[in-house]
Amino acid sequence: MSNSVRKVVIPAAGLGTRFLPATKAMPKEMLPVVDKPAIQYVVEEAVDAGLSDVLMIIGRNKNALANHFDRVTELELNLKRKGDHDHLEQVEEASDLADIHFLRQGDPLGLGHAVLRARRHIGNEPFAVMLGDDLIDARDPLLSKMIEEQGKRQATIIALMEVAPEAISLYGAAAVEPTEDPQVVRVTGLVEKPAVEDAPSNLAIIGRYVLRPEVFGILEHTKPGKGGEIQLTDALQELAADEEIAGGVYGVIFTGRRYDTGDRADYIKAIVQLAVDREDLGRELKPWLKDFVAGLAD
Ligand code: UTP
Repeated sequence: MSNSVRKVVIPAAGLGTRFLPATKAMPKEMLPVVDKPAIQYVVEEAVDAGLSDVLMIIGRNKNALANHFDRVTELELNLKRKGDHDHLEQVEEASDLADIHFLRQGDPLGLGHAVLRARRHIGNEPFAVMLGDDLIDARDPLLSKMIEEQGKRQATIIALMEVAPEAISLYGAAAVEPTEDPQVVRVTGLVEKPAVEDAPSNLAIIGRYVLRPEVFGILEHTKPGKGGEIQLTDALQELAADEEIAGGVYGVIFTGRRYDTGDRADYIKAIVQLAVDREDLGRELKPWLKDFVAGLAD
């Protein structure tokens, strides 16, 4: 088994029901965040962490994703003719980022099922999983720390973030113990979307994972859980419960900037936050936003 993490799986085959009708003909991972689709931020994050073999698990509406990372000769020629080098560079950037492979999920039976589809491509080595609706600010790197911990502990690594106690039922929640590193905890149990009163903590699983190939064997027999879907969290719970299988599960606690684009209100907040920080947009947006907020009635 190769010990270094080289490959990343990006499941993008969900139905995106919370964003209908926008996601009727387009995967939610293609929704623009300022001027790039969410998925491009995720691929850039993978590349920044040294991962350039990307497998996207796609569902219906697959063409938009594949086209985005493909060359569009007609558009490139048009921009070249106009001398629009900035946009040309941006368009070419998406297709030159990484080696991107696509695989159909078939029926969207859940995140665990989407990850299981990657088995043959991944083979017998550790790999990352990144969810396209969780954006991690490039200024607060998380994945490289997770890959480092995977190498050190030879275990499964998940990303955890403290959320308001009443919000935990939207996430997977972790029961944890401290380790010698204040940023890393040992995970002793995981529950998918618990009721607030049943949550073991307010540490939520966010969309970055570094997994060992043993997870595939577990996913093969994982029964549908919450929402009738094959849940990755349920497979990880099995790995957390028995360290003998694959060295247990550890969590890296993330305290940086994260933007949740899977929920409509959070998606709008993400766009505003990212846009005001941009040099080309912030100057115009900030004063407008201040005026707008000042004029809001309670
Ligand atoms: P979500 O539950 O957030 O995605 O899955 P969803 O099902 O598209 O969202 P809603 O609730 O209907 O709005 C988390 C991630 O797992 C992928 C999704 O694309 C998303 O990135 N996923 C989920 C799959 O690839 N396949 C599935 O069967 C389910």
